[in-house]
Amino acid sequence: MKLIKAKNISDYKKEIAKEFKITEGKKEVFVIIDDNLKEYFHFFSEYNLLKIKALESNKTLAAIEKIYTWLLKKGAERNSVLIGVGGGVVTDITGYATATYMRGIRCVLIPTTLLSQCDASIGGKNGVNFSRYKNIIGTIREPQLVIVCTEFLKTLPQRVFKEGVAEMLKTFLIANAQAYKKGVTFFSKYFSIPSESLSPQNNKRTENELESLIKLAQKIKLEIVGQDLYEKGRRKILNFGHTYAHAIESIFPNKVLHGEAVSIGIAMAINESVQRGYCSKKDGEKVIADLRKLSLPTSLAELEIESTRDESQSIAKLIAKAIKKDKKRVGEKINFIFFKKIGEVVCESVRICELKNL
Ligand SMILES: NC(=O)c1ccc[n+]([C@@H]2O[C@H](COP(=O)([O-])OP(=O)(O)OC[C@H]3O[C@@H](n4cnc5c(N)ncnc54)[C@H](O)[C@@H]3O)[C@@H](O)[C@H]2O)c1
Repeated sequence: MKLIKAKNISDYKKEIAKEFKITEGKKEVFVIIDDNLKEYFHFFSEYNLLKIKALESNKTLAAIEKIYTWLLKKGAERNSVLIGVGGGVVTDITGYATATYMRGIRCVLIPTTLLSQCDASIGGKNGVNFSRYKNIIGTIREPQLVIVCTEFLKTLPQRVFKEGVAEMLKTFLIANAQAYKKGVTFFSKYFSIPSESLSPQNNKRTENELESLIKLAQKIKLEIVGQDLYEKGRRKILNFGHTYAHAIESIFPNKVLHGEAVSIGIAMAINESVQRGYCSKKDGEKVIADLRKLSLPTSLAELEIESTRDESQSIAKLIAKAIKKDKKRVGEKINFIFFKKIGEVVCESVRICELKNL
């Protein structure tokens, strides 16, 4: 997989031309783009364009079927290039479609959210949800090319930007204490500066700092994935906070953003770790306080979700039920990532019914 940083959005054409010998643009290049990215459509208009709604509830086999139908109708062949432009929903769907159409076509990802730039577009995991099971259908297949352009982040709603911060901090928390400290310091400042008071120089400096944090998160993830692409060992630590996060997402579809669920999941996993003696109360509390300082949720109560769930069952019961549907489950047990200290976590197999934080 080649990871490239592009200065301008239109640079992607140069990059794909460099990577693949494209001679007949429209015949060979297909683009799936997030329907919300209207102001960016023109950058891709010379190719075959399919717009999709980037909702978690659209990460389905039905969406994949639509893509297959479109590719067939437009004459996509084995050497075609399919580009996914969007956040994690689009990159997950594109990755799966490219891995399976004609047993694999060339895949380019252009992530447009902070979360997808530091995480979702890297590492080859792709897939869709099925029957309320999160990411249960999918493959691990790295894209040929990932093009990251931070220009896209300028239109990102604050809530979506913030959920990306949670996933970025997760990467730092599991592997690099220094990067974590840098991230918390940067975002504390970043969220306290009103954007209109940023001078052009300040703005540039802030942009550069943000870019270097994205690069750092990518580097850490690439290093972990490089050692263990198929998640037989070390890669599991990237799932820190995700056991609870995926459960929360499946209980509240389309209500909680992935990164928000991860932030709550990190806090829950830390509480679990403190209670079992994996880490000190002080270290655990420090991280939860950092998340709160950045206004990242650390409990469901902070999200004010309008409930559509079955009120006869407690949230704890629903989470426990959802964890039993987690793909990391093995019988009654699950591989759970415990927090030891900032920059260090450990993976242990635990009985789901013994998770105290439910
Ligand atoms: N494959 C992996 O390794 C991996 C890792 C982490 C998360 N994920 C998946 O990623 C998904 C979450 O992705 P996400 O958080 O990037 O968001 P998303 O794709 O759900 O997008 C969030 C919102 O932001 C909008 N948006 C995207 N880019 C924009 C831009 N530049 N300007 C304005 N609006 C924009 C979208 O239309 C959507 O409304 C989840 O499905 C999660 O499971 C996958």
